[in-house]
Amino acid sequence: MRYNPFNPQFSPRSDYFIGRIGELHQFEQYLLQTIHGSPMNMSITGNRGMGKTSLLAKMEEIAKNKKCLVFRMSNYESLVKDISELTNYLILGLKNEFYADSSVQKRIMQLGEWATTLKPVVSYGEASLSFEEKKLAAQTILRNNFLAFWKKVQAEYPAIVILIDEAESLERIEGALSFLREVFQRLSHESKYALVLSGKLSFPKRMSESFSPLSRFFPASSLAAFSQEETFSYIEKALKSVNVSADNAVKKKIFEKSEGHPYVLVKICNIIFNELADAEDTLTLKHFEKSRIRVMVDLEKDFFNPMFHPVSPKAKRIALQLLKIGKRKFTFTQAVKTTNMKGRDVAPYIHELVRKGCLNKLERATYEFFHNLFIDFLKKRAAEV
Ligand SMILES: Nc1ncnc2c1ncn2[C@@H]1O[C@H](COP(=O)(O)OP(=O)(O)O)[C@@H](O)[C@H]1O
Ligand SMILES: [Mg+2]
Repeated sequence: MRYNPFNPQFSPRSDYFIGRIGELHQFEQYLLQTIHGSPMNMSITGNRGMGKTSLLAKMEEIAKNKKCLVFRMSNYESLVKDISELTNYLILGLKNEFYADSSVQKRIMQLGEWATTLKPVVSYGEASLSFEEKKLAAQTILRNNFLAFWKKVQAEYPAIVILIDEAESLERIEGALSFLREVFQRLSHESKYALVLSGKLSFPKRMSESFSPLSRFFPASSLAAFSQEETFSYIEKALKSVNVSADNAVKKKIFEKSEGHPYVLVKICNIIFNELADAEDTLTLKHFEKSRIRVMVDLEKDFFNPMFHPVSPKAKRIALQLLKIGKRKFTFTQAVKTTNMKGRDVAPYIHELVRKGCLNKLERATYEFFHNLFIDFLKKRAAEV
């Protein structure tokens, strides 16, 4: 047995990280702005497995190298259901991050007052307050806490970076994103906080909102699949660390099958690598062929099923019907024809399929299945029913 350098469960090791040059350049630029007292924020959007979490992990590393205090939020969905919980979570989370920072640990003893610097919201949840009043109260609490916190730590950190992963769960909380915008906009005059949202966000896509305050405050970049060059470089880098090489034909095949989709790519590579016998040190088409069935089984289990399962029964049926168009890319008119439904009846289900990542919306009224391997998965299901 040998160590498999392709791990689909975690963000890549720093030396295996590839691409995202534009997004990282923008992040570094915004960080520099923030450090110089003119904070800027951004957002990252992309479907499942496109590399959002990996990119945030890279940003965290960059910001920490610049000595910033970084709070990366993830897996908070069940803990944050409204704006007051978000406020608490941010305040306590930042405080924990600060305590965990080893450069600070030594001095904590002398600084008992730190414990009282950040005060979570405890007592404004009274039923007598309206939604707007609660939101205003939370804004004040968060702003005052973060401002006081910044004043305390500004000698030690050039800036504070807050990275919020899975931010689509905040988008579902009424008013949460505009709440953040309002708080950090006011803070930007007196402190150095930079905020990055990452997730399957929908605000940047809504046409009517492309010039909205949210889009201006959190300008969005949408993550694309890796190019062939990036895919090759990823495979080569990872394999080099275990003294294995891959011939060109298999690299091409991997790119073709994965379409450069980061999760699919890593998954395929992981399985092909397992086909390598101990004595072998070159990946070839032979290994690719051997891995085929396993790749499909695993992608189904870990990716396609978890994505398709939450889709409503009706939208599922429509997805299967859309296969009959016989093409990955199709127009709304074609969808109406194949499903034999009225446009206004089919539209909500198509939107659901887009929202849940099964379809991509291309230009106006044109859609595509998000991946060819997903089409294979659907075909199999269609044959089963
Ligand atoms: N820039 C990258 N370089 C190398 N591998 C990556 C990169 N981005 C993503 N990956 C790989 O793809 C997988 C899925 O990425 P992830 O960041 O979890 O996607 P998301 O958060 O968008 O669902 C990760 O486990 C990682 O192995
Ligand atoms: Mg993620």
